[in-house]
Amino acid sequence: MTSFARNQWYVAAYGREVGRDLLARTVLGEPLVLYRTEAGEVVALADRCVHRRFPLSESRLDGDRIVCGYHGFTYAPDGGCVSVPGQKRVPRTARVASYPVVEQDSFVWVWVGDRALADPAGVPRAPWLADPEWTTVSGMEPLDARYCLLVDNLLDLSHETYLHGGYIGTPEVAETPITTEVDEDAGIVRVGRHMHDAECPPFYARSTGVEGRIDRFQDIEYHAPCLYILHSRVAPTGVTPGPDGDDSGAFHVEVVYAITPSTENTTYDFWAVARDFARDDEEVSAFLRESNRTVVLQDVEALNTLEKVIAAEPDGYQELSINIDTGGLAARRILARLAAGEEAPAGTGAR
Ligand code: FES
Ligand SMILES: [Fe+2]
Repeated sequence: MTSFARNQWYVAAYGREVGRDLLARTVLGEPLVLYRTEAGEVVALADRCVHRRFPLSESRLDGDRIVCGYHGFTYAPDGGCVSVPGQKRVPRTARVASYPVVEQDSFVWVWVGDRALADPAGVPRAPWLADPEWTTVSGMEPLDARYCLLVDNLLDLSHETYLHGGYIGTPEVAETPITTEVDEDAGIVRVGRHMHDAECPPFYARSTGVEGRIDRFQDIEYHAPCLYILHSRVAPTGVTPGPDGDDSGAFHVEVVYAITPSTENTTYDFWAVARDFARDDEEVSAFLRESNRTVVLQDVEALNTLEKVIAAEPDGYQELSINIDTGGLAARRILARLAAGEEAPAGTGAR
């Protein structure tokens, strides 16, 4: 059974998904209801009425309060019940849990662990997603697989060659060795793969307009447990940054994933692709949105299959790992340690 690192920030939704309609999301097995107050603040409450468990997400908003759709218990944004039907006295214990929320970089982050440990400054950043200098397309696909399978998948991009041929995969991805760096204290895994004189996959050929061979750099930064960033640089072969660091001859894409465990065997796969070129070109946006969604769905299908295989197998199956798995194995180690509670919350650096 997977155990989760609870005292961590996780993405529950995009900010654009949270409004004056009640949104249900389950994070680390906790059913949540999300909405925005009239002043625009995001609220996250437990999605179970204390009375008879009716989901608050299937109820209605009255101003900033949720009125339970079954018998009318009414909850304020802090989770406190402010009225019950048929009596004046509201029982002291009539309250649902409320969860700390941070809205940042287009995401709504929630903390479902011990709220005394929630530090908004510890939310990892993906600044491109809300930066007007970048153009972003994004989406979310639900996964019927445990979240560690998606972490494995994203930390080993050699699978692009086989699973995503015709989109982002070319022979060079699987052929080029990786470098891996692990910052155990910060819980960050970095995996780099720099390909020179490589084939340009359709994903980049069509979006950038580059013809011919390219230098293609993939630099992954995984901030355990939830945030994954792939710094992708594509340039015609031989175009290098100037001595002053100016790299405007290259095309930059920041591919961001937020990997949020929903239940033991289901995961929210939030994906975003931010670019610094063709920024106003709607056709490029539509192409990248469609291509990346297809790529994500290829992963979803493969991982859903793996989940079924794992669920059906007897205990004790021995995987075989090779060099390409170094980043994924480091991530597993960090996640296991975070879940075991051996580590102070991310960002403190303390042990
Ligand atoms: S279940 Fe919510 S008021 Fe009864
Ligand atoms: Fe993939």
